[in-house]
Amino acid sequence: MDRNLAIELVRVSEFAALAASKHIGRGNEKAADQAAVDAMRKCLNSLTITGTVVIGEGERDEAPMLYIGEEVGAGGPELDIALDPLEGTSITANGGENAMAVIALAQKGGFLNAPDVYMKKISANTNNQKVISLQQDLKSNIKDLAQFKKINIEDLVICILNRERHKDDIETIRSSGARIKMIDDGDVSAVISSVIDSSNINMYYGIGGAPEGVLAAAALQCLGGSIEGQLIFYNDQEISRAKKTGITDLDRFYSLDDLAQGDIVFSATGVTDGTMLKGVKITKNYAETHSIVMRSKTGTIRHINGEHNFLIKQLDY
Ligand code: FBP
Repeated sequence: MDRNLAIELVRVSEFAALAASKHIGRGNEKAADQAAVDAMRKCLNSLTITGTVVIGEGERDEAPMLYIGEEVGAGGPELDIALDPLEGTSITANGGENAMAVIALAQKGGFLNAPDVYMKKISANTNNQKVISLQQDLKSNIKDLAQFKKINIEDLVICILNRERHKDDIETIRSSGARIKMIDDGDVSAVISSVIDSSNINMYYGIGGAPEGVLAAAALQCLGGSIEGQLIFYNDQEISRAKKTGITDLDRFYSLDDLAQGDIVFSATGVTDGTMLKGVKITKNYAETHSIVMRSKTGTIRHINGEHNFLIKQLDY
């Protein structure tokens, strides 16, 4: 993939984040999401690619823009796209932490066609060694990770979404002796943080969105780290949604490579302040953005600070 696309991709996540940031704390999730979607799509259509949205805003009949299967771009190499114009709609509406605009490119077939259902995920930085797995129980994972990292279980921090469905897992983590970082939303950022040694999260565990699992895996292909996922179905409708995307083994465990593989470019821009990214900051004349853009092929990680000058022109890309 042309390496310059990485830099082009930053503009796309920046533009979506800038648009969403106007809605921070205003209590309107839909308006925040719509603004990000509109902005991302507009900017994406100027990229010199022939892109197909694989992970997007939903199925064609429920999402008018950036739906799964939509073709975007101004023409060029054929690539698949995984995106979430606003990861953390509630976070944005409430002015919380870790909302961001996310987009990744891969060669055709590089992303799992994940249906819009839930996925159980486990992730940590294990230096490419098989230490954690959904195929063993949570307590054993905690014990094995502590042993691998040569730290006491009491010093491990496990991040989990604050949901009723995680009641038993939360008890298991606490009874194992490990600590918990409970988050209200935003597990893409949490999975990414779990593989960054300087963060305060050692492991991510629990059930979140499946599309978010693919986006997080795209980032991990660039950063390193392990993730495993398993689709979770709560009703027949979700099962038929999965079957429509060609999934036949409903109990399958997905490795990092099953979720995202090959030559990947990933870009995320902070909407609100978070563990990895600073949020959009508006000053008198500028809007400042903080983005991370990464390539799996080279392992390059760039932090890009943007100053968007409102004096010269209105928010435009
Ligand atoms: P949105 O940005 O679509 O609101 O998703 C936020 C999020 O917290 C994800 O990070 C997570 O994977 C998912 O929602 C969890 O779903 P639910 O809120 O239904 O438990």
